[in-house]
Amino acid sequence: MGLDAVLAIGAGSGFSVVTEVSGYTFSALGLEVPLVATPTPRYLHVMAAWVRVCSVVDCPVGESREFVVGDRIVAIFHTEDQFFALDGVCPHQGGPLGKGKLQGSTVTCPWHGWQFNVATGQHLTNASVCHPRFELRVVDDEVLICVSDAGATS
Ligand code: FES
Repeated sequence: MGLDAVLAIGAGSGFSVVTEVSGYTFSALGLEVPLVATPTPRYLHVMAAWVRVCSVVDCPVGESREFVVGDRIVAIFHTEDQFFALDGVCPHQGGPLGKGKLQGSTVTCPWHGWQFNVATGQHLTNASVCHPRFELRVVDDEVLICVSDAGATS
């Protein structure tokens, strides 16, 4: 349906059809009207910073550690390939994931055995559970994570 058809329907039906063409706004009655308000995307201002958590030597390959970073508990994992960081509080009942057993890229919570892929945060058997993780970098043998107001990345 072209613009003319839309305007014709609006003019005969007693209601106003408003459309925008090339930056101009018209009503069905042929009157120029103020631009109709459209939903404006909302942008959250999120502060993020890279924060040192530990040195590489503090968490050997195949092990995990728990650290307090600001008001967060962060679990650091050192797999054969690289370091990873998850929110350190298990989503089941708050167990310490940083004190869990790391096997390959899987950590097992020490309290009740929930298991997560440390690279993705994905629960191994429940697809609906993905635990928040932090971006992580190693710079000059220091382990850094990206901490933001929005918390960890899901
Ligand atoms: S608190 Fe982690 S499995 Fe229960």
